[in-house]
Amino acid sequence: MSKKVKPVKVGVIGCGTICRMTYMPNMMNKFQVIDVVGVADLIPERSKAMAEQYGVRQMTNEEIYNDPEIEVVVNLTYPESHFEVSRDAMLHGKSVYCEKMMACDWEEATELMRLAKEQGVCFTTAPDTFLGAWEQSARFYVDAGIIGKPVSVHAQHTCAYRPSNAKFDLSPDTFFFPLHRGGGLPFDWGGYYLHTMLNILGPVKRVTGFAGNYEPVMQYTHPAHPKYGEEFKIDTPTSIFGALEFECGAHGTFHLTSESYNSDNFIMTGTKGTLTLGNPNNFDGTLVLKRANAHVKPRMMPGGPQPNGAPVAASQLGEFARPEDTELPMLFGYNDSSRGVGLADMCYAMRNGRKPRAHCDIGYHAMEVIHGMIESANTGRIYEMTSHFERPEPLPLTNLVGTGQEDSLNN
Ligand SMILES: NC(=O)c1ccc[n+]([C@@H]2O[C@H](COP(=O)([O-])OP(=O)(O)OC[C@H]3O[C@@H](n4cnc5c(N)ncnc54)[C@H](O)[C@@H]3O)[C@@H](O)[C@H]2O)c1
Repeated sequence: MSKKVKPVKVGVIGCGTICRMTYMPNMMNKFQVIDVVGVADLIPERSKAMAEQYGVRQMTNEEIYNDPEIEVVVNLTYPESHFEVSRDAMLHGKSVYCEKMMACDWEEATELMRLAKEQGVCFTTAPDTFLGAWEQSARFYVDAGIIGKPVSVHAQHTCAYRPSNAKFDLSPDTFFFPLHRGGGLPFDWGGYYLHTMLNILGPVKRVTGFAGNYEPVMQYTHPAHPKYGEEFKIDTPTSIFGALEFECGAHGTFHLTSESYNSDNFIMTGTKGTLTLGNPNNFDGTLVLKRANAHVKPRMMPGGPQPNGAPVAASQLGEFARPEDTELPMLFGYNDSSRGVGLADMCYAMRNGRKPRAHCDIGYHAMEVIHGMIESANTGRIYEMTSHFERPEPLPLTNLVGTGQEDSLNN
């Protein structure tokens, strides 16, 4: 029987796109355990607008750090500020929930891990999409053996990022972090793919990679941009092609570039089947299973459809047996825009004295995978991972829906 817990007071730093679009609506309306006290931003107009819209206090970073009521700082700044804001919050004794990735590089991330331990504060990191419907369902099915023993996972996300906007980087409001330190696509989108892999397959043992930039210098290409035609230096790896070896024995590929054009592919294979995964940036998605003894559609059977339309197991079809796509049902909630569920889970974890599911150990491990691939690219050697994490507890299976499903976090 769940017991009511006292909501956790939080201060939000960073009132940009994701705060406006998702976090504030969810923190204010979706999760009862989160109590937003105030918001801050480098651009005061942004925090003012947010404070007015939601009836919370407009604050400065310092006011948030020094407010004795605030227990958690929610760091929604862009990656270049993650380290500074999380560090300052921890130094003031605050627990921290930080958007992805936790820092710009391995050294910064290592310092934050040290500081969180030293200060005895709770530190969790995004992405929290791995707590969503398709991701929790995928983990449930794979744990249950639906694809047999996992063999491989293939993650591919490619797109095109170029300084082609008329206002690109002209002010903090138009700063485009994916072409800056710590924000490149392998960090930005890579974080989603890695958290999914880690949540399902567990820790990585070693990695290799090739990393770099095909176009290390780009041009401002919008005719209305004041620097039109001038060159722009890219200070983050925008392409990584890596390979992973998991402790469980499975292997993986990691193919992320923002210097190409759009494509996505996310597949897990096992000794008994193949699972096509959803988009790890989204809470909702589909899971498609192919395995030898899946049920085939009647029209695929020898002799055409059965009179009663009943499916027949492919294993009964002898030489005609063939794998067939089967879309698996979703077994969990949070199938809509639910960013902040990792923060809500953290708040319940703090109240109930358990480990939060989005614990920094998993974010730190994901960070080391990327760091290791870059190291491997620079040295030409396989990189042995040094960090470790325990797979987060899966969410409990529940028949609760809507905002009532928050009860499943209260344990
Ligand atoms: N935009 C998205 O679709 C999206 C989706 C998921 C996650 N995220 C993550 O959310 C984070 C923020 O992304 P965004 O798109 O909202 O960026 P953004 O640039 O729109 O907003 C960041 C805000 O942080 C403020 N800021 C930066 N440094 C600060 C500091 N030291 N103190 C106070 N305020 C500071 C900026 O002024 C800006 O308003 C990133 O980690 C990103 O990876 C973004």
